[in-house]
Order: sequence, then C-alpha cells, then structure tokens
Amino acid sequence: MHTAKGFIEEIFLQGRWAARIACPPALVPAPGQYLLATSLSEPLPVLAQPLFSAGVCPGGFYAAPPLPASWLPGAVLRLRGPLGHGFSLPPGARKVALATQHTNSARLLALLEPALAQKASIALLCSQPPASLPAALEILPPASLPEILPWADYLAIDLPRDQLPGMLSMLLQGEPQSKRLPPRAGRVQILVQTPLPCGGLAKCGACSVELPAGKGQRLACEDGPVFDIY
Ligand code: FES
Repeated sequence: MHTAKGFIEEIFLQGRWAARIACPPALVPAPGQYLLATSLSEPLPVLAQPLFSAGVCPGGFYAAPPLPASWLPGAVLRLRGPLGHGFSLPPGARKVALATQHTNSARLLALLEPALAQKASIALLCSQPPASLPAALEILPPASLPEILPWADYLAIDLPRDQLPGMLSMLLQGEPQSKRLPPRAGRVQILVQTPLPCGGLAKCGACSVELPAGKGQRLACEDGPVFDIY
C-alpha cells in the first residue's frame, strides 16, 4: 500500500472511462482493486472517493465512472492504495464472462485486456455496453446469465450489495444443477459495490458483506471488494 499524489489528465463525459489519472506505477490498481482519492483542489475537506480501474494507460490508468462532478482536468489528487483484493483471472481461462445487472460495466472491463492477451473468448452481459468495444466481444443482455453459466470457465460479476443474496441464491442453489458452474475456487468472483469510506483504517463497518455459509461476514474494503464464491 502506497500514498502519493496523482492528477487528473483528462475527463471523459461519455464512454467506458470517467477520467485518465496520472500516478506512480505502484499506485495503479489491478482490476477490482481500488484507491482512495481526495482532490486537493476541493475548497473543503470531503470523504475520500474510491477509484477503480477501467483499464491501464501509459503513466497511470483510466478511472471507472462515476467520479465527483466537481473533479476537473488538472486537479491534484492525494491517493492511497492499491487497496483490497481484486479479480484473479485464471491464466488457463479461455471462455470468460463479465456480467453486470446495471449499465456501468467499466470496472469489469479492466479485465478486457488481460483476457484478450490470453486469447480468451469474452462475453459481456450488460444492458448498456459502452461504444468502441473490440468486435471480438459478444454482447448479451444481463438476463442471459443462466444460459452463459455452462459456457464460461471464469465468471466475473459486478453488482450492488443489496443484490448479492439473490445472485448467490441463483449461483449456489439455482436449478437445474447441470446448468450451474461446477464449484471450483476462483471460478466465480463477485465485485460487491458498497460504500468504502475508510478503506479499513477506522474499521467503520460500512462495507460489511454477508457471504455464503462458512465464509460469514466480511469487510469489502479489506477482504474484498472482490469475493470468491466457491
Ligand atoms: S470501509 Fe470502513 S471498515 Fe470497510
């Protein structure tokens, strides 16, 4: 974990990136990890903002939306991280599914370049995919998840905390049995969206997540925000 200053090189109003962030290489978060960022250009102290990668770029990374509307190009950021556990794409995965129930798939798309680099076929399940995605990607509606389960040998999901129980129920108890992914550590990972106000420093508990039996309650800021389901 490191602290350093970075700055906003560019803001994007549309598309899969919210901003291009310049920072030291050690601060660049891996897919699913995050930084806590405070803008030193804000006139009043504010809570640190979690920043997730939507892809790497020379000298830094692309931040996934949303970002505070008050952040402008040139703003200097105080950065702490990378924090938490991110996605672990298995090197042997050749059929990769990225699934979100909402419109923002940017945090999952940080896995795009690594998956393409290992020549995986990729399916993106998202209701509003951003423009300019590689043509090799298959775009499917979120409702296709039960059908994609038998195909994928790695599944990464991004969803809000309140949708976690329903997703776990579908993955762990859904029928028919033959359509579920065979349980194997690391085969299904879920990035759980929660507030991350302290990043584990104050043990505030705002990021608490209830996982399946045997795993119990965890802190998304330290134990996640990406969790193995099996
Ligand atoms: S964000 Fe405070 S304990 Fe996790």
